[in-house]
Amino acid sequence: MAGQIPTQFIDDLLTRVDIVDVIDARVPLKKAGKNLHACCPFHNEKTPSFTVSPDKQFYHCFGCGAHGTAIGFLMEYDQMSFPEAIQELADQVGMSVPTTKSLSPAPATQNLYDLLDKVSQYYVHQLQTHPQREVFVDYLKQRGLSAATIEKFDIGMAPDGWDNVLRTFGTTDLARKQLNEAGLLSSNDKGRTYDRFRNRIMFPIRDRRGRVIGFGGRVLDDGTPKYLNSPETAVFHKGHELYGLFQARKANRKLERIVIVEGYMDVIALAEHGVTNAVATLGTATTPDHLRLVLRSTPEVVFCFDGDRAGREAAWRAAENALPLLGGNHQLKFMFLAEGEDPDSLVREQGAAAFNTLVEQAKNYSDFFFDTLESQVDIASMDGRARLVEIAKPYLRHVPAGVYRDMLEQRLAEKAQTNVALLNKHLDRPITVEHKTKQKAGSISTATSPVRMAITILLQHPVLYTAVGEFDKIATLDRPGIKILSTMLETLQLNPHLNTAALLERSRGSEHSEHLQRLVQESLPLTAEQLKPELVGIVQQLQQQATEQRKAYLEQKHPSQLTDEEKEEIRNN
Ligand code: GTP
Ligand code: MN
Repeated sequence: MAGQIPTQFIDDLLTRVDIVDVIDARVPLKKAGKNLHACCPFHNEKTPSFTVSPDKQFYHCFGCGAHGTAIGFLMEYDQMSFPEAIQELADQVGMSVPTTKSLSPAPATQNLYDLLDKVSQYYVHQLQTHPQREVFVDYLKQRGLSAATIEKFDIGMAPDGWDNVLRTFGTTDLARKQLNEAGLLSSNDKGRTYDRFRNRIMFPIRDRRGRVIGFGGRVLDDGTPKYLNSPETAVFHKGHELYGLFQARKANRKLERIVIVEGYMDVIALAEHGVTNAVATLGTATTPDHLRLVLRSTPEVVFCFDGDRAGREAAWRAAENALPLLGGNHQLKFMFLAEGEDPDSLVREQGAAAFNTLVEQAKNYSDFFFDTLESQVDIASMDGRARLVEIAKPYLRHVPAGVYRDMLEQRLAEKAQTNVALLNKHLDRPITVEHKTKQKAGSISTATSPVRMAITILLQHPVLYTAVGEFDKIATLDRPGIKILSTMLETLQLNPHLNTAALLERSRGSEHSEHLQRLVQESLPLTAEQLKPELVGIVQQLQQQATEQRKAYLEQKHPSQLTDEEKEEIRNN
């Protein structure tokens, strides 16, 4: 992605912009030593753990782990795309972004967003003007929706007929191709192409930023399928999106809690009754991606399910998918409605207060977890308790190591009438999250190796590069992280004025990116001046080792096998 805007431009931009100005304009910062701090805008907290470093041009929250550069902050906080964030910062310091054409995401994707938006407006317009609109309007009225709510969710209608959208928007070959890419067409065996959505109430699905990415369409009678969704497209991925999240965020400056319900109509009916913090998955189980998305907007998630068997099963699937996200600063809860009831019917029959009361009484994750498992064994017998441990084990393994996991283990031990030590003897220790991410993120080992130390020092104090001597041979060493170090040195050789943020932005999208972001946050207890000899020494030593290794390699070769260059090399060393 960064490839479209010249890297050089991003470097320059990040040396001119001050992250403190960027953040302070949105989240007022207070001085705290050489850094600045505030209550974190990405999670709920009362004491500030969100820190901005003017030296590193980097922000970091000790509470929730959010971190990044000025570009990253705008992407996260203002939900801008990468090119949008660049444009915003450039405007701020009066620079003009070189290739404006490449600034729209990818042109093809931008066209899809534009088209989907126009089609959404078309459906809305049909509901206002179409000769057969009455049945649709009556249906929505009968479901209790006011004009304001219909407008808030941009509900529309796809008129009856095979080619309303096709005729209106598919005037050229290219336009028809785009309609197809946007998921708005279907075709039959005979190759005939027609509108996917016909004679349905239309619900546009928006992403978190409010762009229309797809549709759900409902029949008016009891035809099938009851709901028809857009297929997966370049911009629509069911397993990642939540219906109503954009509206919920818009209606609430701060979301203390989000309720995840099952249906479109549940979200809308709740909003009609003033419950504006509900979202729905798009007919799929809640995935870890859904949860990550929603936890960026709120510290508490309540899953709401029907009380019947299917609802309980769906809840358990959600609970399983939530295991890797347990602990941390957020809370997950479960609530169940009476059989045959859904949030829509409940709120219409009993009102918002009744619904909210049930939300307040939602079960904690751990209670739901253990109640469900316990219902599968005879907890009164020793054999049953042993079985409980057996079935709980594989689940606990997926919980990140930490306080929450410890407490789940403690609870399991109590229920099994054993103790944690005994339990853990049999509970396969998981790889801790720390460890896991480190292994994934880079080739650098957990212990602070000299290479890792050198990378950390350079990242945090790029100016020290100028003190470093020769390093041209170090890349040949077989050491974890050596490629990162030598690339970084090469980058600084060509661009000696890069700051920390610019170095980080260069790694955006690479497999090392996360790892480098972590190294930036590592605290180095020494000043730049004190770290200088450390860095110089490490690089010197690496270069020397590489030279010796090379020499040994050449020496073990038979003289007749040596090339002229290699002979020359031996002479020079
Ligand atoms: P109403 O009957 O309009 O109240 O629907 P609902 O919102 O109560 O939906 P329901 O509980 O029947 O289903 C929940 C969700 O599952 C819906 O919002 C859809 O996302 C999805 N869903 C339901 N029926 C279908 C279907 O026939 N096809 C697909 N693809 N999804 C469906
Ligand atoms: Mn319903």
